[in-house]
Amino acid sequence: MRSTAEICFDLRHGLSAFLPQEPTSEADANFRLDDAIQYQGVDPRLLQKILATLPPQAFQFPFIDYGCGKGRGLAVGALAGFRSVIGVEVSAGLAARAAANLKTLNRRISGLQVTVQCMDATLFQLPPSPLVVFLYNPFIGPTLKRIAAILKTQTDSAPLWIIYVNPLGLEEFLNCGFRIKQSWLHKNSLEAVLLES
Ligand SMILES: C[S@@+](CC[C@H](N)C(=O)[O-])C[C@H]1O[C@@H](n2cnc3c(N)ncnc32)[C@H](O)[C@@H]1O
Repeated sequence: MRSTAEICFDLRHGLSAFLPQEPTSEADANFRLDDAIQYQGVDPRLLQKILATLPPQAFQFPFIDYGCGKGRGLAVGALAGFRSVIGVEVSAGLAARAAANLKTLNRRISGLQVTVQCMDATLFQLPPSPLVVFLYNPFIGPTLKRIAAILKTQTDSAPLWIIYVNPLGLEEFLNCGFRIKQSWLHKNSLEAVLLES
């Protein structure tokens, strides 16, 4: 269920249809349905709080949302100051909704570049630059393991800031050599982490 703060955020920024939704597998043969977590939009206040801890230079680089769903994370990123926000979403219906949801912000924020790629996250080619990568518990299992390895390889050539909300698969990142730079707790459980290599 959406909180009042989430409803207000969506109304203010022209976003719609944020009901939870089961993942679908129509987009990609590579896709492991068993690893996918159902769609639910991130709490905008939490992501805003985390983004506020990033150094100013991070905002000049692309913001990537792995499993962008209907685009709320992308909207928070755009409003926080990123000029390139990229969503990767396996479900075609959700990806189309994300692109539609970001149209209003795209008109309002000059210079904003929004890209939504409908594909399995493991097939997405990361841009060869420093990046801010956002995951709101999109997948688990072999899919997450693969993404953690891809991100680790990326850190050989460029710095990354990785924001992982509801980090159920944190172990995969720690096993790859990432360290927790900062963490956020809610009622004694881990709500989010910022990872560095
Ligand atoms: C918890 S939602 C996160 C939504 C969004 N990041 C936000 O914060 O508002 C997880 C999303 O990951 C997507 N997903 C699951 N497995 C995926 C995969 N292998 N590749 C791309 N997207 C995936 C789901 O369809 C769902 O939309």
